[in-house]
Amino acid sequence: MLKFLLLSSVLAAPALAASASDWQNRTIYQLVTDRFATPDGSSPTCNTEDRKYCGGTWQGVIKKLDYIQNMGFDAVWISPVVKNVEGTTAYGEAFHGYWTSDITQLNSHFGSTDDLKALSKALHDRGMYLMVDVVVNHMAATQDPPNFASFTPFNTQSDFHPECLIQASDYFNNQTAVEQCWLGDSKMPLADVNTEDQNIVNTWNTWIGDLVKNYSVDGVRIDTVKHVRKDFWPDFAKSAGVFTIGEVLDNRTTYVKDYTQVVDSVLDYPDWYPLVNAFMSTTGNLSALPETVKASQDTYKNGAFNTGAFLENHDQPRLGSQTNDSSLIMNAMVWPFVGDGIPILYYGQEQGYAGGADPANREALWLSGYSTTNAMFNHTVGLVAARQAAAKANSNFLSTKVQFLSSNASTLVVSKPPLVALLTNQGSSSTPTWTVNGANFSANEEIYDVLTCTKYTADGNGALTVTGSSGKPQILLPTSALTAAGRSCPNFNAISAKQPSSAAALSSTLLPIGSAVAAVLVAAQFFF
Ligand SMILES: *[C@@H]1O[C@H](CO)[C@@H](O)[C@H](O)[C@H]1NC(C)=O
Ligand SMILES: *[C@@H]1O[C@H](CO)[C@@H](O)[C@H](O)[C@H]1NC(C)=O
Ligand SMILES: *[C@@H]1O[C@H](CO)[C@@H](O)[C@H](O)[C@H]1NC(C)=O
Ligand SMILES: *[C@@H]1O[C@H](CO)[C@@H](O)[C@H](O)[C@H]1NC(C)=O
Ligand SMILES: *[C@@H]1O[C@H](CO)[C@@H](O)[C@H](O)[C@H]1NC(C)=O
Ligand SMILES: *[C@@H]1O[C@H](CO)[C@@H](O)[C@H](O)[C@H]1NC(C)=O
Ligand SMILES: *[C@@H]1O[C@H](CO)[C@@H](O)[C@H](O)[C@H]1NC(C)=O
Ligand SMILES: *[C@@H]1O[C@H](CO)[C@@H](O)[C@H](O)[C@H]1NC(C)=O
Ligand SMILES: *[C@@H]1O[C@H](CO)[C@@H](O)[C@H](O)[C@H]1NC(C)=O
Repeated sequence: MLKFLLLSSVLAAPALAASASDWQNRTIYQLVTDRFATPDGSSPTCNTEDRKYCGGTWQGVIKKLDYIQNMGFDAVWISPVVKNVEGTTAYGEAFHGYWTSDITQLNSHFGSTDDLKALSKALHDRGMYLMVDVVVNHMAATQDPPNFASFTPFNTQSDFHPECLIQASDYFNNQTAVEQCWLGDSKMPLADVNTEDQNIVNTWNTWIGDLVKNYSVDGVRIDTVKHVRKDFWPDFAKSAGVFTIGEVLDNRTTYVKDYTQVVDSVLDYPDWYPLVNAFMSTTGNLSALPETVKASQDTYKNGAFNTGAFLENHDQPRLGSQTNDSSLIMNAMVWPFVGDGIPILYYGQEQGYAGGADPANREALWLSGYSTTNAMFNHTVGLVAARQAAAKANSNFLSTKVQFLSSNASTLVVSKPPLVALLTNQGSSSTPTWTVNGANFSANEEIYDVLTCTKYTADGNGALTVTGSSGKPQILLPTSALTAAGRSCPNFNAISAKQPSSAAALSSTLLPIGSAVAAVLVAAQFFF
């Protein structure tokens, strides 16, 4: 019976049963399900300050997969899928999906069981991956003390840690409090699940295995990982059976590194802080980024490989709310695509969205009209294409550590062969120059900035000096690499937009019948 269910659900939406190494070659588009697309293509008003459901659904996402795939992305991270608290709370409605009330049901605002399966299948049919967001640490209460009986399946007070709110100083002094006290506040306490209780642990492990299997999920993003004891995670990750990436919100590599031992990967918050500080103004200091990158390369389980590299997400103000200089934003956007991590782009960045702190950073994307002609969209397509071309041209690209050939407060020369990225925070009125030495370009080699298709020629020593314009970043790729990747200038971006590389390049890994069988075999190791 179980075997039959498993087989039928897998056949309904062929799983790719993706491991950490399968994800390393991906580029992820993160969206807020309620805010990405409506199922009927309508454009209802959506005032972020109201914190209400605006009407985005899984069927809406399905209808807009061309938009995502045409930018070159080959994975989509969606909001948490389970049932949340209903109605208006002190902080509005649970449109973001992070206020779990019942882990055994889906959030009906986003669609039905069949709709989520259909999204999974639609992604897999395109060779794309589905990443689902899960919250294990807590359930959301609308009163203090919570009505524990309103939760499913953890429905008694003893299923939760005794109530105490985490204090700011605990983050530096008291890890026990971080793990066992509660997030939230008295208006909305986030009841902290007792993940020391073995029955509860078993429930979570069974649940995540079933969720992955039922919806053929390819990867799991785990919320608030640092708020659960570390030794909870290895069995949970194993039960998921697919790639796991955890949110450990801290700026210290010394703190975050331990979590790379218990889940496959972490969202790269330690690099994110210096990244934003470097590019939020023309007086930022770029030198801190190389130091943090080096620390993550040296101390994480897999170096910086597989970390989730991002500039924006649903929890942080968008960079556009901190600067109006689009050249700074374009520079900062480059980093996740040229480093060792898996690039993640938060929906709306490609439309130049500029919302500030939550809830302003959760704008409805339909209000942009899904433009494909604006400069930020074009830039995004170029970044995805540059990374994919580099990976295709050099089979060692993904396993070669990023290096900084030079860095000072206002410029960076970043090397991850075959590409070299030139970054600056001098701003749109500057004419930056970068001296590129030691990149291992050949003598007199022909090189393009693929973001503008400007051609350069290296000197007799393979070095070059590049003068930029309007403070914009550049990504250099030798013509030989472009040729190896099947791309060319002057239409480097256009190729990507018309023929998403994911569909062609990934077809070899997506053989529906074979992969369904393979998925059953992989799943079987965990379920029988
Ligand atoms: C850490 O926090 C826990 C939970 O609030 C508390 O019981 C314990 O006394 C704290 N430890 C220290 C050293 O303050
Ligand atoms: C998975 O599907 C089974 C069979 O329909 C169901 O009993 C279970 O609750 C589902 N679990 C999840 C997490 O979706
Ligand atoms: C982390 O942030 C704190 C508070 O802003 C700051 O004092 C500390 O220097 C930062 N640490 C690192 C490693 O950036
Ligand atoms: C930039 O930061 C680096 C190291 O983080 C420091 O050594 C340097 O003095 C800083 N430069 C400026 C101009 O602040
Ligand atoms: C950006 O420009 C707008 C409109 O002029 C202004 O209201 C806003 O404060 C500016 N933002 C920043 C970060 O300078
Ligand atoms: C889009 O990118 C291409 C480089 O591939 C560039 O030539 C073109 O000017 C860009 N268009 C816009 C609107 O930024
Ligand atoms: C990475 O993806 C590109 C296409 O986007 C493909 O050509 C290349 O072979 C892949 N590399 C690895 C190591 O999977
Ligand atoms: C930073 O380095 C670049 C060359 O890579 C140079 O042009 C620039 O003047 C340097 N800036 C500072 C502040 O040292
Ligand atoms: C250039 O090649 C040398 C020798 O293979 C290597 O040690 C070095 O890391 C390469 N530099 C870059 C930037 O890849």
